[in-house]
Amino acid sequence: MSEGASLPRSLVLIGLMGSGKTTIGRELHNRLGYPLLDMDHLIERRAGKPITAIFAESGEEAFRDMESAVLEELAAPDAPRRIISTGGGVVIRESNRKLLHQLGYVVWLKATVETILERTSRNRDRPLLHSDNPQAKIEALMAERTPWYRSVCHQEVDTEGLDSSEIATGILESARYYFAGHL
Ligand code: S3P
Repeated sequence: MSEGASLPRSLVLIGLMGSGKTTIGRELHNRLGYPLLDMDHLIERRAGKPITAIFAESGEEAFRDMESAVLEELAAPDAPRRIISTGGGVVIRESNRKLLHQLGYVVWLKATVETILERTSRNRDRPLLHSDNPQAKIEALMAERTPWYRSVCHQEVDTEGLDSSEIATGILESARYYFAGHL
């Protein structure tokens, strides 16, 4: 809450793959009207290929470099207020974690391993889950990233059992305090 006046103060959604960032981002966009930016889409547009192809052809580190570059651009001073949906691994790098926290109000969407497994099994566009045991991979990512998500976020939202409208309402109630009513 003590960010400098010139820093962008967006609404930022973080959390594991399949935690609902895209869906909740759309819901918040519909309610508030601020532009919705999806970091994965920005990376894909810039690379001219899907994330699976970036991982396959250039490797995860190259993807992470692109992700960090996009985040730095989003954190440019005086950027307009936006809703930003991030990729689940954006918190891996410490430099990214600092930028995320500066970007604005950061909301960590939490879901259970079962829910994430169910949602992510609907398509094959997450290269990190191209594994014989995606459940074990999700569990490992959750264990590794939980402290990072927690350290970066302003609000934790347990999404289990709630629909997207209820989740958005909960986020907006708390975000209004953060933005001192100017939301
Ligand atoms: C990743 C999550 C993905 C995407 C990439 C890596 C991760 O985004 O950035 O496949 O490391 O968790 P979503 O969280 O939007 O699926």
